[in-house]
Amino acid sequence: MSQVQIIPFKTEHRSAVVRILTAIGWAEQYVTAAAENAVTFSQNPETLAAYAAQLNGEVVGFIYVKYAAWNQLTQIEGLAVDPAHHRKGVALALVRQAEAFAREKQARGIYVDTPTTNQRGRAFYEAAGYLFGYIMPRYYEDQLDGVTYQKFFTG
Ligand SMILES: CC(C)(COP(=O)(O)OP(=O)(O)OC[C@H]1O[C@@H](n2cnc3c(N)ncnc32)[C@H](O)[C@@H]1OP(=O)(O)O)[C@@H](O)C(=O)NCCC(=O)NCCS
Repeated sequence: MSQVQIIPFKTEHRSAVVRILTAIGWAEQYVTAAAENAVTFSQNPETLAAYAAQLNGEVVGFIYVKYAAWNQLTQIEGLAVDPAHHRKGVALALVRQAEAFAREKQARGIYVDTPTTNQRGRAFYEAAGYLFGYIMPRYYEDQLDGVTYQKFFTG
């Protein structure tokens, strides 16, 4: 099996974000916003980071994260993997890289919000060692709650 490679996200990877999120089925406005975020996050290394995952030279996934100094927490703001390459450990490799960035920043931990209906995402975060934090009612839409998963680096 080919090895996942994690590399810094570059502006030229923008089209891969569009391809991946379109394949997942996201609406165009969310796809465009995520592609712009990935580029912006790759250009502000002080508090932001973005990475791409490659399999055989093809970008098959991405992650972008933000470190906040005020509470010393890092937030995963975007994570997705090409459906053609799910369950190959791509997301896990991306999340571990994001955690390494957080630790470099001396963050206390890392967290992520996702819709409560995102069973695949929730199963993934639980498998990656994240703990259920709380439900935020109406976080995404009036009819769509958010759920936060957290991983603290120290007890
Ligand atoms: C969630 C997502 C990022 C997972 O990506 P992935 O590369 O397939 O995940 P991995 O291969 O690293 O999975 C690691 C482990 O997580 C768990 N997991 C991942 N996907 C799962 C699923 N669909 N159902 C149950 N468990 C799952 C498994 O334990 C898996 O290990 P295994 O394959 O050895 O059983 C991917 O499904 C995706 O892009 N979904 C759409 C976008 C999204 O939901 N992003 C996250 C929320 S912000």
